[in-house]
Amino acid sequence: MYTLDNPKYKEARRRAADLVKKMSLKSKIVQLTMFMVDENTYNPEHVEEDGEMLAGRCGTLLAATGIDRLNKYQKTSLECTPDSIPLISGCDVIHGYATTMPIPLALSCTLEPKIVRDCSAVAGKEATVEGVSWTFAPMVDIARDARWGRVAESFGEDKYVASKMAEASVRGFQEDAGILSCLKHYVAYSACEGGRDYNGCEMSDQTLFNTFLPPFKAGIDAGAATVMSSFNEINGVPCSGSRKMLTDILRGVLGFDGFVVSDYDSVNELQNHGYAKDEKDAVLKGYGAGVDVLMLGNLYNRHLPALVAEGKISEEQIDASVERILAAKYMLGVMDEPFFTSEGKGGWLTEEYREIARNAAKRSFVLLENDGILPLIPSEWAGKKIGLTGPVSNEGDSVLGCWASAKNPAKTVLIKDAMEKAYPDSEIVFTNGVCFKREHSNPEESLEILKDCDVIVACMGEHARESGEATSKTCLDLPRDQIEYLKGLFSLGVPVVLLVSAGRPLIMTDFVNRAAAILYIWDPGTECGNAVCDVLTGDYNPAGKTTISFPHRSGQCPVYYDHKMTGRPTIGIPNRTFESKYIDCPVGPLYPFGYGKSYTTFEYTDAEISSDTMERGGSVTVSCTVTNTGKYAGEEAAQLYVRDVVGSITRPVCELKGYDKFCLEPGESHRVSFTLTEDDLAFWNADMEYVAESGDFICRIAPDSGAEVKKLKFTLE
Ligand code: GLC
Repeated sequence: MYTLDNPKYKEARRRAADLVKKMSLKSKIVQLTMFMVDENTYNPEHVEEDGEMLAGRCGTLLAATGIDRLNKYQKTSLECTPDSIPLISGCDVIHGYATTMPIPLALSCTLEPKIVRDCSAVAGKEATVEGVSWTFAPMVDIARDARWGRVAESFGEDKYVASKMAEASVRGFQEDAGILSCLKHYVAYSACEGGRDYNGCEMSDQTLFNTFLPPFKAGIDAGAATVMSSFNEINGVPCSGSRKMLTDILRGVLGFDGFVVSDYDSVNELQNHGYAKDEKDAVLKGYGAGVDVLMLGNLYNRHLPALVAEGKISEEQIDASVERILAAKYMLGVMDEPFFTSEGKGGWLTEEYREIARNAAKRSFVLLENDGILPLIPSEWAGKKIGLTGPVSNEGDSVLGCWASAKNPAKTVLIKDAMEKAYPDSEIVFTNGVCFKREHSNPEESLEILKDCDVIVACMGEHARESGEATSKTCLDLPRDQIEYLKGLFSLGVPVVLLVSAGRPLIMTDFVNRAAAILYIWDPGTECGNAVCDVLTGDYNPAGKTTISFPHRSGQCPVYYDHKMTGRPTIGIPNRTFESKYIDCPVGPLYPFGYGKSYTTFEYTDAEISSDTMERGGSVTVSCTVTNTGKYAGEEAAQLYVRDVVGSITRPVCELKGYDKFCLEPGESHRVSFTLTEDDLAFWNADMEYVAESGDFICRIAPDSGAEVKKLKFTLE
């Protein structure tokens, strides 16, 4: 959409270029500035002061919402900015605005791009009701380290899935909701050493191009309007000051035609990095690298005029930046109709939106363990006592996840309320046991209350405030009080169904053989309770596949499926001492990328390959049969993994190259088939050429990245 092959965007760029020609330098620099109008500085009696802040000094606002409020600012802006250029407001509409959708990590576990698109579309539409024109989403960082709290905002650890979801989200925000999207955080922000937020990384160009850039490329190809430069450094150069990243690669290689906005104050922070000696140097390096719009503050207004006068920044570069920003404003229509309205924008929390949220949530859940106790079919549990306990069971805002809008936490469907409706003929015995507000906990009393139940549904997890930005952890265990309470519950001798709500994988290792079932619900959003009951009752047979590996122990992080072999891979020979392993923990994940159980079972048979040779320009087809061998209808996502055995650089043990998600009735079979071409095998090699290298390849069609299924081999000539 925001690409020069789109005639509408081309026309917008032409109109913008015409306007730029008439603008003064001061007026142009105003368009490169974003202010945050802090609630407590906005005082209607002081609109002049406020107007002063806005007047002629910014082209975009951060987190300003509300039609009347924005129109007041717009009036000031039109009166006071040179050339009367309208402003727009950008917000973090990450996974919902009034109707909170599941967190992006959860959405990616559906493996269904349409679900991601629909959730982005609803979020964007609800945001336009309050005049929002731009969202700082989707976040497309590759999330390999669960210690980093922002994995919650990501589409998981795999570039293939993250690329599909990036495209879907961009289209949802831009084509369905009509607001600007923003691919963030460019780039490799998630590779932060130690999983510690804002930390830097050392990264080869091969890893950058093969793993971390593909989702950005997918979003750019889908027409993303903006990209956000990240806080972190790569190899000693902060991204928000890196010409290599923001111009040479982003524009030169990935072909980005929109505009770049800095992450919050990241240009100013070039000084903290020790990369800029003062504010003016930071502006020279940030803007010089390619940061078009400064989030946040006055540095560009303060220093760019002098830098241009000194010839250190060219006015042509400024013209190019302003043209891209004005083109986006033309595309939004705000240049022609500057005042915002909620007319015709639909409502909030409509039945349709709630249904989209509920459907997304139930499809995002990952069933990790089930000894057969699930589903708890209401008719079979009539007259029985179902215990319900734990902090997540009756808590509204934690299950909304990070970046949840503050609009309507009260509208969240609680698990407790939904279960009381879903099991009218059972006795729901509710007691919190432990609470996020520790002072309200009553574990001993609760164990007494629950000991006569026929089953206990224990809803545990981390609070939403424990994931998202600046929430890195060294320990991924459940909170200590929840672990102790769970031990008490297990000691009752009553089957325990463990539900876990979190923004990241937490350590489940000690519950695997104690809980009768483990259902990972991530942060499901507004329709939490209904989605949980859809799954617990068996109305919906869970099919989510985790898109991020679950470690056995925190010390394993980062742990991810497309890792390297090493010279001493663990190949299962007992007592083999010298191999790449831990002496106190298994080397692989507890649950691998792509893993997720169902209430039914699936069998993979008759795997075959069309040829053991792929000629240059040719293809091979890999297929197998998947059969539903259980008693419930269910969905399965069969995944194709490929290993490039020998390369000019070492290659991952396997890479996801495709998946096919389908529904099967009991006894029904489906023939899964994938056709591979050279393009699927290409990578950035030792010489930084994007090629498929000749040699042997091993394929598997499997239920997850760790499953042992028949291997199929072919050689690329
Ligand atoms: C934050 C986040 C970024 C967000 C921006 C604006 O620091 O890093 O994801 O979009 O600032 O709120």
